[in-house]
Amino acid sequence: MPENQQHHEEEEARVVVEPKEKVILTGDRPTGRLHVGHYVGSLRERVRLQNSGEFDKIFIMIADAQALTDNADNPEKVRQNIVEVALDYLSCGIDPAKSTVFIQSQVPELFELTAYYENLVTVARVQRNPTVKSEIKMRGFNADIPCGFFMYPISQASDITAFKATTVPVGEDQLPMIEQTREIVRSFNRTYGPVLIEPEARIPEGEAAKRLPGIDGKAKMSKSLGNGIYLADTPEDVAKKIKSMYTDPDHLRVADPGKVEGNAVFTYLDAFATDEHFAEYWPEYANLEELKDHYRRGGLGDVKCKRFLDKVMEETLAPIRARRHELEQDIPGVYEVLRAGTDRARETAAQTLHEVKNAMRINYFDDAALIAEQAQHYQA
Ligand code: TRP
Repeated sequence: MPENQQHHEEEEARVVVEPKEKVILTGDRPTGRLHVGHYVGSLRERVRLQNSGEFDKIFIMIADAQALTDNADNPEKVRQNIVEVALDYLSCGIDPAKSTVFIQSQVPELFELTAYYENLVTVARVQRNPTVKSEIKMRGFNADIPCGFFMYPISQASDITAFKATTVPVGEDQLPMIEQTREIVRSFNRTYGPVLIEPEARIPEGEAAKRLPGIDGKAKMSKSLGNGIYLADTPEDVAKKIKSMYTDPDHLRVADPGKVEGNAVFTYLDAFATDEHFAEYWPEYANLEELKDHYRRGGLGDVKCKRFLDKVMEETLAPIRARRHELEQDIPGVYEVLRAGTDRARETAAQTLHEVKNAMRINYFDDAALIAEQAQHYQA
């Protein structure tokens, strides 16, 4: 069958389920503390959406089971980082009264869903996922790739659909997971009936927020490269990191013209600086465009720009750091928040799993008609 015809038939057979409410589900792997890339790439947007009042329910998941897919030999790392991620969430403004924060592995319904979704996805389809492809390459996996890691996009579809999420606020690298989830939803609803909701990704606006580089100007922040600024860093650490930040290697003297493209200081300013920051800390410029123009013309030194960036970032990071210090004094309280959230998340996931099993007609013990029918068959 030609591909477009096949596509057409799929469209025709599409079962559309209208969501009853607006629901957010999102999460992070607890493999380390969160950094400012997480903040501008996703956390800031989650807090904004949470406080917008636009959503009926918000679920934020600490994806420890997903973290284990490539850390099977190091569960201790995952175990230690759950509380770090929880502290980062709460100190950024995730409010447990508005958002349900929970731990993935403690919601077993998610793994049951995954078992059924796995039958709706081909190996070839998983192999085409560009994010999985690049992660496999980064980790040097070949045929030795753990099955769980290979299939984590399917597990992620369970995370999203278990809560009937309509919106998934994530970084750009997660788009292939949302696409995969939508395909699973369509396939499930077509095969078994209208149960699951197709989610939409919500990614941050602006190139800088989508891809905040490390302080070395390299593509991504990572612990192994030691190029990240963390939400929990001290003001001294942040200042030191900004001082060493990659700029324009050809901008040798203050008088020289400078380049802002690929210059980490300007990418960070793109992500963090507002006109109010200029009014408060550097009124010689009305906004970032004026600053960039001056830098391009020449006559503006890196040191001054870095000092400004430090003030701008501290304005964001200082209150986060202060809240974190407070929360760190009550770790049992943080675990209580996670426990209560996990209980609530489990109720919702169990309801969806129930609907899924009904649609698949694998709810044998609740199926009086099936039992009666077969009883009659053998009596006749
Ligand atoms: N894959 C995400 C990450 O690496 C974490 C995650 C797991 C997630 N399940 C999810 C994100 C569901 C959004 C929705 O950060």
